[in-house]
Amino acid sequence: MKVIEPLFLTELYEEFFVANGNVKKLNELLNRISKIKIFDPACGSGNFLIIAYKELRKLEILILKEKAKLTGKAGSGSLNFGGDYISQISLTNFYGIELDDFAHEIAQLSLWLAEHQMNVEFFKEFGQTSPTLPLKESGNIVQGNACRIDWETVCPKNPDSEIYILGNPPYLGSRRQTDIQKEDLKIVFGSDFKSLDYISAWFFKSAKFIKGIIASSAFVSTNSVSQGEQVSLTWKRILNEGIEIGFAHKDFKWSNNAKQNAGVTVAIIGLQNESQKLKYIFTEDLKITTSKISPI
Ligand SMILES: C[S@@+](CC[C@H](N)C(=O)[O-])C[C@H]1O[C@@H](n2cnc3c(N)ncnc32)[C@H](O)[C@@H]1O
Repeated sequence: MKVIEPLFLTELYEEFFVANGNVKKLNELLNRISKIKIFDPACGSGNFLIIAYKELRKLEILILKEKAKLTGKAGSGSLNFGGDYISQISLTNFYGIELDDFAHEIAQLSLWLAEHQMNVEFFKEFGQTSPTLPLKESGNIVQGNACRIDWETVCPKNPDSEIYILGNPPYLGSRRQTDIQKEDLKIVFGSDFKSLDYISAWFFKSAKFIKGIIASSAFVSTNSVSQGEQVSLTWKRILNEGIEIGFAHKDFKWSNNAKQNAGVTVAIIGLQNESQKLKYIFTEDLKITTSKISPI
């Protein structure tokens, strides 16, 4: 939630609260969330995609319940919608790249499971849902090397795309990188890559991807990307693309079930196209508003 709330969820809830009481605005919001694309370019078994999918489905349920109240379809007890109300949020709007073939297969399966779980929730609320079986298309999870694949071939940009890139890509200092990983960085950066952390490739590629479109990105990262020479080598290149830091979670201890993440200190850094919008720095218990966030 530390990633997806500031990346897109908080803004969608704000729009929902404004739309309360107004069917036209609720329909616009439903239409908006049905088109949002979520992309994790190091998706592992798909945890970030699954959380994002479930949160969008939960928001959709709230919007539909509010709409039902306004259109007189909310009776006492269970809601009666006729055949109108089914979820418009499709797994096909969820994209991932994963190097490990097994994890990539699991991500695909986990998305189907998440869809089924949310269909059950939907049914509890509305007494109807689209059936999970037979299985329809799942997320677009590609097995491959995110440093070498053109991300647009995985997650295409359409003119009206609203895309959020997220995840916790691998972080590895230069001394721990394999020859293949060093070569990956060379392919991404061309020059001055030798002392970069491996995760810099994801920040840089996401900055290039979101440039000039309705999109932003946020990654859980080693906090060393904002220390020492990483700052000038990585961030100068990113900020030169017309990209800024939209939000940041200061260093915190993080542990989850994913590989390589046992209680390490991490930061979360969100990137967006340069704008006049307020930026947010989160600490353990504070949300600080500012006009600019520096990478240091
Ligand atoms: C820290 S884990 C992320 C776990 C993921 N969030 C999950 O839910 O399972 C980093 C992932 O990046 C994958 N990875 C490492 N190098 C990669 C590369 N060059 N391209 C794509 N994926 C890569 C690893 O296999 C691993 O699954």
